[in-house]
Amino acid sequence: MNTAEVIEIYGKYVIGNYGRLPRVIVKGQDNRLWDADGKEILDMFPGWAVSGIGHCHPKVVEAIRRQAGELLHMDNTFYTVQQGLLARMLSERAFGGKCFFCNSGAEANEAALKLSRKHTPKGKYKFITAERSFHGRTFATVTATAQPKYHEGFLPMLPGFEYVPFNDTEALQAAFNEEVAAVMVEPIQGEGGINEATPEYLATIRELCDEHGALMILDEVQTGMGRTGKWFGYQHYDVVPDIITMAKALGGGVAIGAMMARAEIAASLAPGTHASTFGGNPLACAAAIAVIEAIDQENLLTNAEQTGAYARQKLEALKDKHSIIDHVRGKGLMIGVQLTEAGADIVSRCLEKGLRINCTQGNVLRIMPSMTVTREQIDQAVEILDGVLSEARE
Ligand SMILES: Cc1ncc(COP(=O)(O)O)c(C=O)c1O
Repeated sequence: MNTAEVIEIYGKYVIGNYGRLPRVIVKGQDNRLWDADGKEILDMFPGWAVSGIGHCHPKVVEAIRRQAGELLHMDNTFYTVQQGLLARMLSERAFGGKCFFCNSGAEANEAALKLSRKHTPKGKYKFITAERSFHGRTFATVTATAQPKYHEGFLPMLPGFEYVPFNDTEALQAAFNEEVAAVMVEPIQGEGGINEATPEYLATIRELCDEHGALMILDEVQTGMGRTGKWFGYQHYDVVPDIITMAKALGGGVAIGAMMARAEIAASLAPGTHASTFGGNPLACAAAIAVIEAIDQENLLTNAEQTGAYARQKLEALKDKHSIIDHVRGKGLMIGVQLTEAGADIVSRCLEKGLRINCTQGNVLRIMPSMTVTREQIDQAVEILDGVLSEARE
């Protein structure tokens, strides 16, 4: 089928809930994609942060092949080696917590919210989340997502949620009381425009949660698995959360999500309280184990930190040439370029020239390459962006 035929079939049979770019992607390898017309694309936003170690990483592909020949799925009636090993690997890389596995970021956040209500005493029901957050599209997680545009048409949202401006410690203090079960924030807001939490903000959340017997949940769905140069975003700060959630890059392209909670909190999810049919299946867990091994063996945390700093510096240098760039922000390979004008057109023009980036919040270019990205690939991406910005100015 050619591009036009595929797009036609989508028009007839696939619900149009995504604004898609007019390309049919047939192959991905590391930081490159190829479309049905044979055009090559340098991917600086692989899978919306899912392909965190590049497309079709050989170690992940090999692990999936191996596991597919042994045991594809096994329900949680039994134990599997892969789920146990993955939980241990994650626990060793975070705060020694215990894991619940599911299939997406939204499900991981759902689990965190449910666990918080289950664990805290009766009367504690309230969740505090931050403006510009993004936590998912299920009813609870879209309610937690404090952006009215995502609520439109779906009202009423679930009761029990309160929103405060991000990084505003006073507003947080004012919203806190004995009814709060948990606070949930992203260490760096992704969809909200690459906004880093300040150390004071996370420290205040920790203090208030301790003072009032509430739980601190960090949504690491986008920041997790090494993108910021550390395994999890919170590790850049002097705080330890009670619960973290992850998904996206965890499975290297295979659907998997996880919630990790401190052991004494995790104990509240006794048999029968929460579940996921596909959660923690051996195929997804084998893929995630391979992702972690690849990050370790190929020093990808260091690459994320160093190549991320290099990329930010190169992008920062574009500022002198292009007044449309206000500033560059982010950590590791989670980079936002704040524009003074809308950026959607720039994204489309970059794609025409073989570069994929993203734009969020209307005017923040999101550049989040995989952790295998090289300086040469950053140079190539910046050169294309530079050209597009120059053309736009003319
Ligand atoms: C921080 C954050 N949390 C949760 C989600 C939801 O994840 P999923 O789409 O896998 O449900 C996303 C998705 O973009 C996200 O960025």
